[in-house]
Amino acid sequence: MSRDVNVAILGATGAVGKELLELLAERRFPLQELKLLASPRSAGSKIVFDGKEIIVEAVSDRSFEGVDIVLASAGGSTSKAWAKKAVAAGAVVIDNSSAFRLDDDVPLVVPEINPEAAATHQGIIANPNCTSILMGVAIYPLHQIQPIKRVVVSTYQSASGAGARAMEEAKTQAKDILDGKEPQAEILPYPIAFNLFPHNSPLNDQGYCEEEMKMVNETRKIFNAPELNVTATCVRVPILRAHSEAINLEFEQPFDVQQARELIETAPGVKLVEDWQSNYFPMPIDATGQDPVLVGRIRQDISHNCGLELWLCGDQIRKGAALNAIQIAELLLEKNLLTTSNSAVTDYSAVKKPSLL
Ligand code: A2P
Repeated sequence: MSRDVNVAILGATGAVGKELLELLAERRFPLQELKLLASPRSAGSKIVFDGKEIIVEAVSDRSFEGVDIVLASAGGSTSKAWAKKAVAAGAVVIDNSSAFRLDDDVPLVVPEINPEAAATHQGIIANPNCTSILMGVAIYPLHQIQPIKRVVVSTYQSASGAGARAMEEAKTQAKDILDGKEPQAEILPYPIAFNLFPHNSPLNDQGYCEEEMKMVNETRKIFNAPELNVTATCVRVPILRAHSEAINLEFEQPFDVQQARELIETAPGVKLVEDWQSNYFPMPIDATGQDPVLVGRIRQDISHNCGLELWLCGDQIRKGAALNAIQIAELLLEKNLLTTSNSAVTDYSAVKKPSLL
């Protein structure tokens, strides 16, 4: 990496913001200065980073002066309000919200899949939705060998996807239920403790919710495969911070299961977890706090000779959000992309195989 940089975290007090702080320290990100931004509610509060107290500031017009990279994780409306101002002030924004993900001039990047897309940025790079990232790193190694025709995915999504307050709500509800009290739901629409419900994002005319359509559209964009057929059913489950996904893949030709296992074993960002003897496969409690997406139960689809089934668990706050954003920031430094000029990178082949994990 070429030089130390000034970084601002927008949404520093949130679940992803806190993880971003941990990862910056853990991965020894070459920081010169770190600015912590949140809403006026948190202004003046202190967060300890690297042994030093940093005062959280309310984001304002002057927040981005001198900042090289903004890691934004404060929701779509906050990103819409501030991202372009940050870019105008000279920063590159890595945005964790859905605000710009499908914009033609905004690359949507998973470093293990399409690092070359980062080089096309014009100031904003979008971090995909957690479910899309986790599925993408698991199935892209197979897609590279034989293009996937159709994906049928069901998700089991933790409370963390709805933020730190949803995680607290899940814990309080569990305690209340065990104490014989009526659980109260304020952040999520229904009690999540000892319950589950279809993802509550807005529904379209075809009956798909926004979260499901993110998996469809984002996977197509990240894979640069506009014709890829994806259908998803997204469900919120009473888990704190790791998502799980059951994935069915259809190919043109039969896909050898052993080859699929070997590909997952060697691919970046994923870890094969399968013990068929003892029926042990990825679980959210094992994925929590881990960087790789855990993949297992890879098997032939008995209903279709060109189908494969697999199961994954991944930490929604790490690879599903904060880690992917930090990897993009590392890529920007590694490939000298901290400029909005498209001519900054000429050697895509060198970018294509990152040693990021
Ligand atoms: P705050 O703590 O001041 O509300 P989570 O996804 O865990 O709920 O976190 C959301 C993050 O986004 C928090 O850091 C929150 O700050 C921040 N945030 C929410 N609304 C705004 C806003 N209007 N301006 C700046 N930051 C915001």
